Amino acid sequence: MMKLWILVVLSALAVGASAQTCLCETMKWATCERDPCRCTILVGNNDKQVLNCTKLIPKCFLMKAEMYRAKKGMDTRTGGKPVESAFVDNDGIYDPVCENDGKFKAKQCNNTEECWCVNSAGVRRTDKGDKDIKCEELVETYWVRLQLKHKPVTGTVDETKLKAAIGDAMNKRYKNFDKSLVDKVEYDPDARLIVVDVKKPMNDRKVDLTNMAYYMEKDVKVLPLFLSQDKFEPTVGSQKLEMENILVYYVDEKAPTFTMKNLSGGIIAVIVVVVLAVVAGLLVLFFARRRQNQQYKQAQHREMDNL
Ligand SMILES: *[C@@H]1O[C@H](CO)[C@@H](O)[C@H](O)[C@H]1NC(C)=O
Ligand SMILES: *[C@@H]1O[C@H](CO)[C@@H](O)[C@H](O)[C@H]1NC(C)=O
Repeated sequence: MMKLWILVVLSALAVGASAQTCLCETMKWATCERDPCRCTILVGNNDKQVLNCTKLIPKCFLMKAEMYRAKKGMDTRTGGKPVESAFVDNDGIYDPVCENDGKFKAKQCNNTEECWCVNSAGVRRTDKGDKDIKCEELVETYWVRLQLKHKPVTGTVDETKLKAAIGDAMNKRYKNFDKSLVDKVEYDPDARLIVVDVKKPMNDRKVDLTNMAYYMEKDVKVLPLFLSQDKFEPTVGSQKLEMENILVYYVDEKAPTFTMKNLSGGIIAVIVVVVLAVVAGLLVLFFARRRQNQQYKQAQHREMDNL
């Protein structure tokens, strides 16, 4: 009888606790208040962003929070596990300006006078310019390629099951991510490389690929953004695959407009000098020809006069 009582009391407590639990499953740095449950994250001094923790948090809010935490000397990793330095991984990070719904503004300046245009993943797609740079629209990323490298395994990886396994793992982990968007999966066992193409139809504005890609990037490179620190570990047959590296390629609906993006200042200077030399050469040639023509015409005139 006593035991039964304890059981009843315990289960009542458990039910009460779960009814009152207010946690942010998709963001470990969030703080939540109860009654009603409301979770926020600090993105600036006294600047709290309200989060919808039933979904993946928009990347723009996450980057803002990360920049704020980095500035305050707060941990941007959490968990204290010995992993490679987050700042090498986060090289491309800046303090973004977000729309109310968490989308990136097309123009970003990182609080400086130097600005550029980004795609829907917040990744720069133009040269950097001054603050008058025009970014007409936020260009949508409709295709991401996730190039994953898994850790060595003792068994073999069943390649025929890989695509389904990756799709299932993504669906389960990234808040019901639509696995039919996983377009193609390629595998190179020697390099331990899994290339996952995730694509949506062009002009689709309902699904977003970039939040999922950002969560996965953090899962592999640093530590999960989720409250739960479980690893991203797709299971292929009976083989678990732990990832050790990820590279994300973005494909936008419109090609980026970098000009001479692979040319350093030195090479550009050389090109300018060569172009100037060619123009000078052409001018010399042009004037030389004109003079010759004039002399020829004068000669003709003289001959006519003689006749
Ligand atoms: C959070 O997102 C879910 C899924 O899109 C939606 O159904 C729900 O209404 C949202 N909650 C709030 C508070 O906006
Ligand atoms: C943005 O500014 C911060 C310093 O405030 C700097 O550390 C970071 O590298 C900048 N990011 C870019 C992409 O310019």
